[in-house]
Amino acid sequence: MIKCQKDKFSLSEDVTYLNAAFMSPQLKTVEEAGIAALRKKNQPNGITADDFFANRNLLKKKFAELIELQAPEQIAIIPSASYGIANAAHNISLRPGEEILMVAEQFPSHVYSWKRLATSHAGFLRIVNPPNTFEHRGEKWNEAILNAITDKTAVVAIPHVHWADGTLFDLKAIRKKSREHGALMIIDGTQSVGALPFSVQELEPDVLVCAGYKWLLGPYSLGLAYYGESFNDGIPIEENWINRLNSEDFKGLTAYQEAFQPGAERYSVGESSNFNHLPMLLEALEQLLVWQPYKIQQYCHDISAKAIQAIKESGFFIEEDPFRAKHLFGIYLRSGQELERIKKRLQNNKIFVSFRGDAIRVSPHLYNTPSDFEQLARCFQD
Ligand SMILES: Cc1ncc(COP(=O)(O)O)c(C=O)c1O
Repeated sequence: MIKCQKDKFSLSEDVTYLNAAFMSPQLKTVEEAGIAALRKKNQPNGITADDFFANRNLLKKKFAELIELQAPEQIAIIPSASYGIANAAHNISLRPGEEILMVAEQFPSHVYSWKRLATSHAGFLRIVNPPNTFEHRGEKWNEAILNAITDKTAVVAIPHVHWADGTLFDLKAIRKKSREHGALMIIDGTQSVGALPFSVQELEPDVLVCAGYKWLLGPYSLGLAYYGESFNDGIPIEENWINRLNSEDFKGLTAYQEAFQPGAERYSVGESSNFNHLPMLLEALEQLLVWQPYKIQQYCHDISAKAIQAIKESGFFIEEDPFRAKHLFGIYLRSGQELERIKKRLQNNKIFVSFRGDAIRVSPHLYNTPSDFEQLARCFQD
């Protein structure tokens, strides 16, 4: 098993941080990269034309490696998940009556663009709810998703894991069924990519978007998206100079270009050279590639298994192992249990988690320890 990596972060010793799904802490190397990047503009004479491109290309290469993608040019640099989704929705057309399939209570950035698309095309959002019982909840929810995919489905727009409670959606089965019915699969990987293996090669999504400040361990306001080749002729939501062909030639920029740079470059946000943030995300990705997401899953499983068992035995519901992520899971109260009392205990012990919907969301990483989970479990005992 990979060993605890707390020494690579600057977390306070007196807090138990189980809240990377809210915002990951910063690696020391990422902090250093950020400071060095910030200082670079003190002497702008040292910034070259090549600086506008080199890190962007490297970032795409690293992210492609992380998501098992052969073609880094299919990656775009985005400021937020909502931006990446907006570019996807902008290039999808629905026939009247067609459906965009989603799961209940998705994060709003992966909802509003779809709502607008459905409304403007006389289509529908089809929301698949979880079963109203905890018994085999994740398994039944996945079955319901598969059953809801029909010839009416134009788009399946879902996450890999639910942001509130870590329910794992079987993207392989969903891809198979969606393909049989000619539907696109658009994934929000913000709460999973970086900590949970994701393979474009295997899952063949049409689009994958990821905000970068959670499981990619990057700074806020910088993310990455993959667009399949069918989007290569699309229209981006904004027009910027660097995404056009030959933008490397600064002297010729006013020879306005109809053509774009190859692949998904057209969907990168303006000023995507982002001198301060790019080196930070790059540093973070390099670390993740060393650690490997599957080892992060294994680590999170190993440090939490005993505590999860104890919390379940205290009468709370946590999803069965095969249907939940290990880096993000929800604890649900059953009737008669008091949320306020648990909240107070967590607060008194300086344990940081989130409260999302009805779930107490716990999201560990390599800086956490079995002892963090022992403390957590104690808050759920009578
Ligand atoms: C599933 C999911 N997607 C996206 C985001 C962030 O969206 P955006 O980058 O549009 O702010 C979050 C933030 O919590 C999230 O949980």
